[in-house]
Amino acid sequence: FHVDIDAAQADKGTYPFYMLKEIDEQPNVMRKLSQVYLNDAGNPVINEDLLATLKQADRLYIVAAGTSYHAGLVGAKLFESLANVPTEVHVSSEFAYNQPLLSAHPFFIFLTQSGETADSREVLLNVNEQKFPSLTITNVPNSTLSREATYTLLLHAGPEIAVASTKAYTAQIALEAILAKAIGMVDGQAAAKDFDVKQQLALVANGMQALVDEKDTFEALAKDALLHTPNAFYIGRGLDYDVSLETALKLKEISYVQAEGFASGELKHGTIALIEKDTPVIGIITQKNTAGLTRSNLQEVAARGAKTITIVTDDLAKPEDTIVLPAVDERMTALLSVVPGQLLAYYTSLNKGLDVDKPRNLAKSVTVE
Ligand code: AGP
Repeated sequence: FHVDIDAAQADKGTYPFYMLKEIDEQPNVMRKLSQVYLNDAGNPVINEDLLATLKQADRLYIVAAGTSYHAGLVGAKLFESLANVPTEVHVSSEFAYNQPLLSAHPFFIFLTQSGETADSREVLLNVNEQKFPSLTITNVPNSTLSREATYTLLLHAGPEIAVASTKAYTAQIALEAILAKAIGMVDGQAAAKDFDVKQQLALVANGMQALVDEKDTFEALAKDALLHTPNAFYIGRGLDYDVSLETALKLKEISYVQAEGFASGELKHGTIALIEKDTPVIGIITQKNTAGLTRSNLQEVAARGAKTITIVTDDLAKPEDTIVLPAVDERMTALLSVVPGQLLAYYTSLNKGLDVDKPRNLAKSVTVE
């Protein structure tokens, strides 16, 4: 297959690695998605035929791999809360050979930066055989999954070169938020009407900018807590758990630190046995209803010697917190809480002297099953 890459966009410029450039591009990707998919009044501009087909579905099935799967976990919460449609999220390599019992009118959403992931394509081929409607959300126009699905929406994130996906993850979540609002608006769901996605994306873009402007802070933190550790944990509940899976993957794949994303309430059911003196445990706290619970879980690991770091939204922050995120709508916090995790992974890898953009054993897109 053939990919057209804009030469200027694919240039690293003064950046030592593409990954850092791509992390820095995220505020502009948020603004771009707002321009492309929202009108002046802040309402989504999405293909009407696609929306009509989505509206007939009684359940959405998001199918993806790796980071795109993690973006799907966040998206499911957006589709359920804004569009009131039950949504399941599946790892494509599992779904391909273990298809669950489907609802009467399923609609499939494939999330894939490259549009070429073989595991996801295998599911799409099965879906097409069963004549179910599908949408591919991808960064690459004319990619295989884009051509083979019923509909396509593009991420407009610009080429993502680093193996570790960053801006595609946040673009996927932002576009899912826009699409969720669009579906909910078709039949006037109050949650969708009241959700000002345009304003939220503007706040997110500014918040991301404030975070990427603090690179020295994240480098110092990475050197202090992650550079010499064999393992690390990211913990959270709900949306914060979803982000903990993604931030742990970032750390693993480029810095080779064994990292786990964990539902913070589940730690005490076994995994807490792994906590030793100075084991880094990074708690993500952005949801009011679970903030206190995750704080208690952090105290439990601190009592066993863990080095705890907190990533907390402004409205929930306490003086002792490590990283404070600008406040945005609670449903959109993943777009900000992931950025410290991206930067911590980047600086851990950089300070280990590793090839940040091309980690060992990995390819940008996995075209074999
Ligand atoms: C992310 O950092 C990974 N390198 C990887 O998990 C990736 O997200 C996965 O292979 C899926 O790729 P896709 O989005 O192009 O389908």
